[in-house]
Amino acid sequence: MPGDHAGVTDHDIRVLDDAEYRAAHTLFRGTLHYPPAPDDQWKYAQETYDAGRVLGAFADGGMIGTVQSFPSAMAVPGGAVVRHAAVSRVGVRADWTRRGVLSALQRAQLSAMRAAGDVVASLRASETAIYGRFGYGVASRYKHLRIDRRRAAPRSRVAGRVRLVGGEEGERIARGLFDELSPVRAGTISRWPAWWGISVRRVVGEENLRVAVRSAGGVDDGYAIYKVTPGVHDASDEKPSTLTVMDLWARSAEAWADLWLFVLGVDLVDRVEAPGRPVDEPVEWLLGDRRACRLADLEDESWLRLLDVPAALAARAYRSAPSVVVAVRDAYLPENAGSYRISAEGAVRTGEAADLVLDVDALASVYLGDVSFGALAGTRRLEVATPGAAARADALFAVDEVPWSGTFF
Ligand SMILES: CC(C)(COP(=O)(O)OP(=O)(O)OC[C@H]1O[C@@H](n2cnc3c(N)ncnc32)[C@H](O)[C@@H]1OP(=O)(O)O)[C@@H](O)C(=O)NCCC(=O)NCCS
Repeated sequence: MPGDHAGVTDHDIRVLDDAEYRAAHTLFRGTLHYPPAPDDQWKYAQETYDAGRVLGAFADGGMIGTVQSFPSAMAVPGGAVVRHAAVSRVGVRADWTRRGVLSALQRAQLSAMRAAGDVVASLRASETAIYGRFGYGVASRYKHLRIDRRRAAPRSRVAGRVRLVGGEEGERIARGLFDELSPVRAGTISRWPAWWGISVRRVVGEENLRVAVRSAGGVDDGYAIYKVTPGVHDASDEKPSTLTVMDLWARSAEAWADLWLFVLGVDLVDRVEAPGRPVDEPVEWLLGDRRACRLADLEDESWLRLLDVPAALAARAYRSAPSVVVAVRDAYLPENAGSYRISAEGAVRTGEAADLVLDVDALASVYLGDVSFGALAGTRRLEVATPGAAARADALFAVDEVPWSGTFF
């Protein structure tokens, strides 16, 4: 299919075959200013390329852009799980940018994902200006905690048992627990099998992989994966020994607290860094000195795209409240455009006049419950045709828990 931005039709988009994946990977890394992956890294990346899910843009006989996705599932409010495509490795060669290549790749990818039955897609954005125009909206955020371990003074001790399990066995236990615990909370997703190699084993090194597994009564109920970067212990704050919590999931509050107490108890560590954590995670309440735990960052996490708006609206649960008619605009997938009556019983297409009018990226932002219709109305991101309709929509869309994905890709 030809590129279609501002009349430019000088490139073509097609699905790549497996002989082209390494070239696509090299192209993508180049757009991030990284050199090609050496063989020992490519072995992890290669596994993440899925047949039919990698697109390339071509011009002058060469590849000039690429985008791909990983097969996944996402939990939505109320607990239903929908098909989800995890979009990643978006790049256009520097000599071809701002000529519509990404727009053409997006158009092709969005249509292909919807046609394949994916209900939603999500991505992590390198820059915030890129994806709104394609219908992606920020739908969850994460926080980065930085804990001064020397000051933390935990208020309690590990109550269950936490043991370190190395290598394949540790990963097997972590993967089993993860698959049970996600997707459950709204915004959490399933991980494709190759995620573990590239995001865990490659990062910590296969020989270093240790998983802290928590159990009570002989039953495993949570795990933490962490790595320690040794510094100059106690010398100064300039080069602290740092423990980074890479992944921490627990079946219960007791298991969660024990895992945090365990990582805070590892000796010869000055600082604990925990990027990518849920906004509502109350780590500071475990500590004697809550100011030892600082919010280092609060950032957009999931950029969500509702690929099939009727299916996505029908999949999530709504609270008991008066119904509202929402009109949706979607420039890239016009089959989603139209009005939907949303009530406690669900969501159905309707020809009735709209109470609220919004673009599909704004609908994605309210979909998991991270931001309110009221906030979007107040910041002029949606039009209120019927006074009071934003408050009605907020009552319907209210959630118990802030959404979070917890999986970086
Ligand atoms: C981001 C990137 C893929 C965009 O590709 P592109 O082919 O230049 O995008 P397009 O020409 O289709 O741009 C479409 C629109 O988005 C805008 N846009 C694209 N990238 C943008 C950016 N980084 N910042 C602001 N606006 C951007 C364009 O100006 C254009 O706007 P217009 O339609 O109003 O003219 C490319 O710049 C790139 O590879 N960057 C480095 C790698 C990267 O950041 N990848 C994303 C990883 S998540």
